[in-house]
Amino acid sequence: MINIFDSHAHYDDEAFNEDRDKVIEELKEMGVIGVLNCGASFDGTIQSVELADKYDFFYAAVGIHPEHAEDFNDDVLGKLRLLAKNKKVKAIGEIGLDYYYEENPARDIQKKVFRAQMNLADELKLPVVIHDRDAHEDTLSILKEFPQVNGVIHCFSGSVEFARECLKLGYYIGFTGVVTFKNAKKIIEVVKEVPLSRMLVETDCPYMAPTPYRGKRNRSDYIKYIIEKIAEIKGVTEEEISKVTIDNTKKLLNIY
Ligand code: NI
Repeated sequence: MINIFDSHAHYDDEAFNEDRDKVIEELKEMGVIGVLNCGASFDGTIQSVELADKYDFFYAAVGIHPEHAEDFNDDVLGKLRLLAKNKKVKAIGEIGLDYYYEENPARDIQKKVFRAQMNLADELKLPVVIHDRDAHEDTLSILKEFPQVNGVIHCFSGSVEFARECLKLGYYIGFTGVVTFKNAKKIIEVVKEVPLSRMLVETDCPYMAPTPYRGKRNRSDYIKYIIEKIAEIKGVTEEEISKVTIDNTKKLLNIY
């Protein structure tokens, strides 16, 4: 059995309402040594902190996802700042830009909320968990405004060229179950490009389950299939991918 640090999960999601505690207990037995539960809505952020308080191997990221950008205001910012004082809060996230759905908040609002939370990360000296969907160019230009902030581009979906730009800024690249999909091409080229020292693995559960569980509810122990695939692409052992991704995640999140 290999050890796993899931750098991006949503166990607060209603998909786990029936059996959340049971699943989390099982993860420990399956080699999962760490989970970063990421806020998306404000309620989800509170629940992320509660999970981190409850389970020793859980940590939290606090932040407002671009899809919820219209819920962000000074009051929410103040509450995020207070929540971040909790010792188990290790990052600001997930934050960023999402241009995929037309009904998403206006781009100007998304950018404003993204910048406000980048400022918060800078102020609190915390890393960021970046969500970027179909917004590579604008995401990159905002990241460049904050050269002193570091983080991970979660569920990376860009090109090799975009990955290079993110690496240049010092960011880590988060790989999900997409690397195991039969039709995966672009992301495999990205795996080849990204050095081991900059890779993180993640579920983004309950979504993005790797093959052979594609389409099912995802969970952190399934990361073994992602590690297996990355090891194959990189030509190294699964143990090496396991170790380096755990080390990278701990380093980024300042977990010792
Ligand atoms: Ni997510």
